[in-house]
Amino acid sequence: MAQLILVVDDNETMLRLISEALKGEGYELLLAADGRTALDIISRVTLDMALLDVMLPDMEGYDICKVLRNSPKTSQIPIIMLTGLGDLENRLRAFEAGADDFMPKPFQMQELQARVKMQLRRVSRNVLPVAQVDKPINQSLAVFSLRGGLGVSTLAVNLAAGMQQLWGQSTLLTDMAFVNGQAALMLDVPLRRTWADLGRIGAEEIDLETLDLVVLRHGSGLAVLAAPKQVENAELISQKHVERVLELARQKYQFTVIDLPHDFSVTTITALDSVDTILCLVSPDLASVHCASNALRVFKDLGYNDQKVQVVLNWNYSTAGLARKEIEKALQKPISVVIPFVPDTLVVALTMGKPVVLEAGKPEAALFEDLAYFWSGDEHKKTEPTNPSPSLQRVLDRARRRQMQKQK
Ligand SMILES: Nc1ncnc2c1ncn2[C@@H]1O[C@H](COP(=O)(O)OP(=O)(O)OP(=O)(O)O)[C@@H](O)[C@H]1O
Ligand SMILES: [Mg+2]
Repeated sequence: MAQLILVVDDNETMLRLISEALKGEGYELLLAADGRTALDIISRVTLDMALLDVMLPDMEGYDICKVLRNSPKTSQIPIIMLTGLGDLENRLRAFEAGADDFMPKPFQMQELQARVKMQLRRVSRNVLPVAQVDKPINQSLAVFSLRGGLGVSTLAVNLAAGMQQLWGQSTLLTDMAFVNGQAALMLDVPLRRTWADLGRIGAEEIDLETLDLVVLRHGSGLAVLAAPKQVENAELISQKHVERVLELARQKYQFTVIDLPHDFSVTTITALDSVDTILCLVSPDLASVHCASNALRVFKDLGYNDQKVQVVLNWNYSTAGLARKEIEKALQKPISVVIPFVPDTLVVALTMGKPVVLEAGKPEAALFEDLAYFWSGDEHKKTEPTNPSPSLQRVLDRARRRQMQKQK
């Protein structure tokens, strides 16, 4: 049976053109020139998809989109917004209303045909159980601290960008600070899609293609799954969503880096459970050591082994602080890595949306490049690429130089 698509546009020529283009592809079409007619159709017919213009004589396409999303019959159908208003604010409004895709006018009919096909394939495909797909080498890291403002996001963003740059292989940075995540901002990638888009559909419906549609691309090649733009949308994301997304990330990406919030919510614990390594941040003051000590105790209770959890001491301020030895004693665990205080550069990087690790030549870039290599996992470090990236060459050169200095 032909799939049924509702097209709403107050421009008759547009309606005719779209209708011809899609009929030729074998779809059945229902046309409406205003919101009232569209809502009438929606109440009577079971649709497979909707294409909605924004500016209609009696209402906005966003409102029709919301009606579709709020009805169980149509909550999962693909919706594409068609509009002459292509600016960021309107795109965001479209996604907030629940649209799956956005096409600024004018567009080529071939492109519309391709997008319609892709959206319909996305919902109709039977999702393979995750376990049936071959597993590539995947190294996953979560950066965590119970106390806020310690540098979790700074480390996560720089490690992810650093790994992408080092290995030229697919890396995903996912921001799981669902309430107030800033990772996309720190990379200056436009916030087109977020975890909220995944939260709106059933976890079992998410597949590799859906994930691909939702991740944002940074210029470095890094894939970014951003935290919701609006605080209230954090609630859309369940444990099941997190499980599903992290499993798919394992299949698709060589590296997964997770920026975690400062809590032990169900979604945070799901992520902590799933990763190979947890980097537990501490800064050299009592309150932070106290939080880290609590976190380590919870990790033990959760059954994580000693290798899975690594303590990272981050000097996120310049004044004197507790000595490394004292912190290790209080935590009853050695510190794996010490990150020195980096005056100005990190804050500037944050405001500019440019992670330091990508600014080759700066000493701070070298620091994070080395750390990205350090946590890349043995599997990756063992296989020397035939064509090492400039970043990997720099890391290996520095390691050689350090080795030579030690031998002197
Ligand atoms: N080693 C360091 N040297 C200097 N400044 C640092 C260092 N590490 C982090 N910072 C600064 O500390 C601030 C907080 O960092 P960041 O936002 O990464 O922390 P967070 O733990 O993710 O915080 P939030 O609680 O907001 O999620 C930023 O301004 C960052 O530039
Ligand atoms: Mg943060």
